[in-house]
Amino acid sequence: MLDIRIERTQTPKEKPTDESKLGFGHIFTDHMFIMNYDTGEGWHDARIVPYGDLTLSPAAMCLHYGQEIFEGLKAYRTADGSIQLFRPDENYKRMNVSCDRMVIPQLNEEDCIQATKVLVEMEKDWVPHSEGTSLYIRPFIIATDPYVGVRPADHYLFMIILSPSGAYYSTGLNPVKIYVEKQYVRAVRGGTGFAKTAANYAISLKGQAEAHEQDYEQVLWLDGVEQKYVEEVGSMNIFFVIDGEVITPKLTGSVLPGITRKSALEICKKKGYKVSERRISIEEIAKAYDEGKLDEVFGTGTAAVISPVGHLKWGDKIMTINNNEIGPISQMLYDTMTGIQWGKLPDEFGWVCKVCEG
Ligand code: COI
Repeated sequence: MLDIRIERTQTPKEKPTDESKLGFGHIFTDHMFIMNYDTGEGWHDARIVPYGDLTLSPAAMCLHYGQEIFEGLKAYRTADGSIQLFRPDENYKRMNVSCDRMVIPQLNEEDCIQATKVLVEMEKDWVPHSEGTSLYIRPFIIATDPYVGVRPADHYLFMIILSPSGAYYSTGLNPVKIYVEKQYVRAVRGGTGFAKTAANYAISLKGQAEAHEQDYEQVLWLDGVEQKYVEEVGSMNIFFVIDGEVITPKLTGSVLPGITRKSALEICKKKGYKVSERRISIEEIAKAYDEGKLDEVFGTGTAAVISPVGHLKWGDKIMTINNNEIGPISQMLYDTMTGIQWGKLPDEFGWVCKVCEG
């Protein structure tokens, strides 16, 4: 058990009143969790303090070489007012995998879950009430040594911040437009694609900016070797329904092992769909489209939940999926996933982790 020191704010902020205008990731709650790591001492000094800016050396290593990792999960308010998390154990397991890749000292996963629950319970009044909203939880670790040489740091901060949020995409559950990236790559064999680390997101910005110029919301990344096989979108994993079969790219090391991805696969299997995790080329998708067999495309992610894809642009070819409408499997997954998360459906998978009663 972590011994968490708590310092409450003397100046609590106004909570948002119009939950339809929350957007994603702009607003932060009154408190944050912090813990330090120092070589020789390990992780220590767990505390919850008023939310505020950090004092960091301009030479802090995270600012120069990107030694950082992060996670994303959510707290949901159920109809009876209680607050619950969705598979936090999976997030902290993945966080330790990311730590290992980025040579950051790992944490005790139970301690991380405890810290999350204590912080969320303190901030329970910040968990929004409206349909489709949640409290987004962002744990992260940064290297803080003031040093501009390249080596793993000796000092780190593990922090958790909270943000009441609505839909990730401004389109909500309406289909998004995705641009298949042909020039840039996100991840390569032996790289960091499977880890949740800043570099994977920084590298995606150029492609995303160019996609935005063409009025596409997100980029679909192809593999970094042949630019042939589909990998992921960057803010979400991707699924295709071809001739009734639910297909998602297999985890080859350059794809993020999404928790919503894993949950969507488990739901589909339980409901009896034919499911495969395999390499799938963009040519195969275009061929299925031409043959009228590309039934649905959707993304999965903590922030994105289930996000139907209405248009896929690959070079000059524009594929309009399911008449730019949400398809039956995407809708079923959205309803099942959010039904469990918001406590409207029984949690037959044992995924929910209660924070506090209403
Ligand atoms: C999440 O889905 O939680 C993520 O971390 C994706 C992020 C780009 C918003």
